[in-house]
Amino acid sequence: MNTSLGTQPARLVRKVRGTPTSDGAGVKLTRVIGGPALPDLDPFLLLDEFGTDKAEDYIAGFPEHPHRGFETVTYMLDGRMRHRDNHGNEGLLTSGSVQWMTAGRGLVHSEMPEQESGRMRGFQLWVNLPAREKMTAPRYQEFAPDHIPVVEPAPGVQVKVIAGRVGDTVGPIVQPATDPVYLDIALQPGVAWEYALPDGHNAFAYVFEGAATVGEGDDARLLETAEMGVLGGGGALSLRAGEAGARLILVAGTPLREPVVRYGPFVMNTKQELMQAFVDFQEGRF
Ligand code: FE2
Repeated sequence: MNTSLGTQPARLVRKVRGTPTSDGAGVKLTRVIGGPALPDLDPFLLLDEFGTDKAEDYIAGFPEHPHRGFETVTYMLDGRMRHRDNHGNEGLLTSGSVQWMTAGRGLVHSEMPEQESGRMRGFQLWVNLPAREKMTAPRYQEFAPDHIPVVEPAPGVQVKVIAGRVGDTVGPIVQPATDPVYLDIALQPGVAWEYALPDGHNAFAYVFEGAATVGEGDDARLLETAEMGVLGGGGALSLRAGEAGARLILVAGTPLREPVVRYGPFVMNTKQELMQAFVDFQEGRF
């Protein structure tokens, strides 16, 4: 038996449209992962897109709430959000910045807009932690836009490397447990680019401006604005922008393949651990 099979090019195996919902104190958002259409994509537990020019859609923010057992990744495209937790950490997320928060054994925090008008736009992604790291100490990796490398690997292609690698450029986020890739890709009209996804990762692309064709030949499929493509195959991914250009996030990570028992802001491996999370939270042990 030949064990040196060539890697299949990555292709779009499923298209997903998010579900409009609200969270926090009434912030309007679109749930792409973590809703009925796609409950999870191991190791990704949730993807919310928020994007509005109307203050009433975001002004109530996300007052104090807990997290345990995973990581929240906030990528701000536009707007300002202030973050505070019960361990004394505080930070201001400005346009273009990223916060990769490892909740670990738990914290209680708030995420509140620091603006009363204007556009608020971005993503929050939840990344699971392996069982051995669910009760780790909370920590933050937070980067302003000038600490996120921007590369132009080909004419008409601009990539912000938040996590993972493009050529010799490595993004600032470090997380060996899931070895994540998180790229913000801008393609000029009609421009094509190919990116080699890491072997064995689960991956998705989400188009938030314009449209792009994903895959080659018979496998090529169009992703329009607000559509996500679940990617399979794991090798080279071909992207080609439509006539209006495209902007998308491309995200990948090592699947954990562990049981997931979740309720709201707690994501554990067993029902007993989940119940313990409620008890610990209620008794102020976060
Ligand atoms: Fe949160």
